[in-house]
Amino acid sequence: MASVQDHLASHRDLLADRDRVGAMVRGVVAAVTPGDVVVDIGTGTGVLAVAAAKAGAGKVYAIEAVSAVADVAQQVITDNGVGDRVTLIEGHSTQVEIPDSADVLVAELVGAFGLEEDILEYVDDGRRRFLRQGGRLVPDVLRLYAAPTTEGGGLNSWRQEILDHYELDLSSAEAYTRHLPRNLTADAEQLIGLEAIVLECDLSQPQSGVPSGGGQSTITGDGWLSGWVGWFEIGSQGRSLLTTRPPAPGSSWGHVLFPTVEPMRVRAGDTARLEVRFDRPFWSWTISVGDTNSESSEFESMPAASLLTQERA
Ligand SMILES: C[S@@+](CC[C@H](N)C(=O)[O-])C[C@H]1O[C@@H](n2cnc3c(N)ncnc32)[C@H](O)[C@@H]1O
Repeated sequence: MASVQDHLASHRDLLADRDRVGAMVRGVVAAVTPGDVVVDIGTGTGVLAVAAAKAGAGKVYAIEAVSAVADVAQQVITDNGVGDRVTLIEGHSTQVEIPDSADVLVAELVGAFGLEEDILEYVDDGRRRFLRQGGRLVPDVLRLYAAPTTEGGGLNSWRQEILDHYELDLSSAEAYTRHLPRNLTADAEQLIGLEAIVLECDLSQPQSGVPSGGGQSTITGDGWLSGWVGWFEIGSQGRSLLTTRPPAPGSSWGHVLFPTVEPMRVRAGDTARLEVRFDRPFWSWTISVGDTNSESSEFESMPAASLLTQERA
């Protein structure tokens, strides 16, 4: 569990990501009309709630679950002279009420591959309980993209340098590791296939079931496939607000690697496929390469949770 210090430090990094803040503020300014009621789920330092007030909102409810962060937000709201129109609500959005019906719902709860901060669940709850019929959302669409890559996220060197070094049987630790996505910052040159859209989430609609999706890509050159790199795009009111497509320098999100166990040999023109599934909090995925004319190989991940459960059984 993150400490208070971790929470506060994460906001330092979030504010330092000017593309992120700029994109969300642009979305807020475009969505808010004078006098609107706005709800900001996960207000953090209050930056988007203040932006909504400055864009003319008549009333803003800024909800923040972490008490120490909420204290900072309250100070920021006061310092910016919008304390008469912005009400800070300390608590988890699913457990609080607001006395109004909102015109705009703002929520920057986007994970590196979109879903890890539970945006689908919290925005769905906020949309049902806080937002009026026909209200606007920022963002209102979340698209997940991925492309085949040669970047191994250090997995092979980790196995050689760490596991061999200790002369212990650490194969269980290694199995657990290989079935987790890895955070990294990918370069565009490390992508060896065309990007594919894996999942598109319309946040203005009810959400149900376990999110899952997939895509396929044509490999653009001979080489080794180490996995797929994932990123996202958010939009609002028909406009793209931000994408973290590699290389995305300065992004506070980075990218997510879904690795294969061993690199797979691929040739230009091969078809690679990725299927993903988000069983909160775990991603699981299947990577396959090949078509009728070429050898086919496959890697199916198991969620780390299943591995732990099997271990205990
Ligand atoms: C990624 S930060 C975004 C902060 C701010 N909106 C910004 O754009 O800088 C997410 C914040 O939302 C809070 N949070 C996440 N889920 C929440 C929820 N369901 N209810 C209230 N706060 C939440 C976290 O503690 C964190 O401070």
